[in-house]
Amino acid sequence: MGQFVRNQWYVAAYGAEVGRGLLARTILGEPIVLYRTGAGQVAALADRCVHRRYPLSESRLVGDTIVCGYHGFTYDAGGRCVAVPGQQRIPRTARVPAYPVAEQDSLVWVWIGEAGLADTALIPRAPWLADPAWATVRGMEPLAARYSLLVDNLMDLSHETYLHGGFIGTPDVAQTPIRTEVDEDAGIVYVSRRMDDAQCPPFYAKSTGITGRITRWQDIEYHPPCLYLLHSRVAPAGVLPRPDGTDPEGFHVEVVYAITPSTQNTTYDFWMVARDFALDDDGVSQFLRDSNRTVVLQDVTALDLLEQVIASEPEGTQELSINIDTGGLAARRMLARMAGQPVAGQ
Ligand code: FES
Ligand SMILES: [Fe+2]
Repeated sequence: MGQFVRNQWYVAAYGAEVGRGLLARTILGEPIVLYRTGAGQVAALADRCVHRRYPLSESRLVGDTIVCGYHGFTYDAGGRCVAVPGQQRIPRTARVPAYPVAEQDSLVWVWIGEAGLADTALIPRAPWLADPAWATVRGMEPLAARYSLLVDNLMDLSHETYLHGGFIGTPDVAQTPIRTEVDEDAGIVYVSRRMDDAQCPPFYAKSTGITGRITRWQDIEYHPPCLYLLHSRVAPAGVLPRPDGTDPEGFHVEVVYAITPSTQNTTYDFWMVARDFALDDDGVSQFLRDSNRTVVLQDVTALDLLEQVIASEPEGTQELSINIDTGGLAARRMLARMAGQPVAGQ
């Protein structure tokens, strides 16, 4: 079983999910309660009362404080206990850990690890998600599978042909070789697949209105551990960006995943699809939301099944890797290095 990568930022929620209620999320095995203060700041506290462990997420928000639902220990947004029942004196150790939080690009990031090391400059960007020049649909599916299975899945899109045929998969995806690059210093794995003359899958035909064959680019940029970006470009076959870099005839879709380990065998699969066309077309939004959710659920079903297979097989069972796995293997190496672990599957 792989180790978690600590001292990293992870997406805990969408900004829109965090309001004046208490939201429970378990990240890297740590139960966390999230809420928004009256001033609009997101607070993230350990979801365990210091008194008798009652989940603070099952408690009550009063102003900016949480009043424990069991005996009333009261915590401020920094986790400090400001009131206990039946006595004036508040024990010195009465506090719950507060997590460093940052809200950026519509995502709520929480730092898991040593709080003193948290640096918001390390958070990778996904600017389309909060940009009015783009329209975004999104969702989150809980996965009953370890996060490394989702990383494998997203790093190798040849599975689109088989698992997502009729939605985003066509034979061209599996047939076209990939190019993989690793930037060790920046901590990014790139996998790119460029199809010059491909069939247009329904996902893009219906959303863009292109009827014929297409030039289809899939450029993956994975920032381990949490953020995965798929820069997707679709245009009528043969239409390329102009020499000056502008691309008025191309349709651009930024598919973003936040891969957040919850426990050793469960994962939050946050998915977002941002587009730079048909911005005000609710029909297109609805279609992309429904199609992408269907596609994500196809992955969820497959990965949940793989988790069962792994749980049932003897220790040390081998896999067999081929060219399509280059990106996934590079991601595994980087994650293992970040976790200070030996590398599996090499
Ligand atoms: S468990 Fe929270 S006050 Fe007792
Ligand atoms: Fe998939």
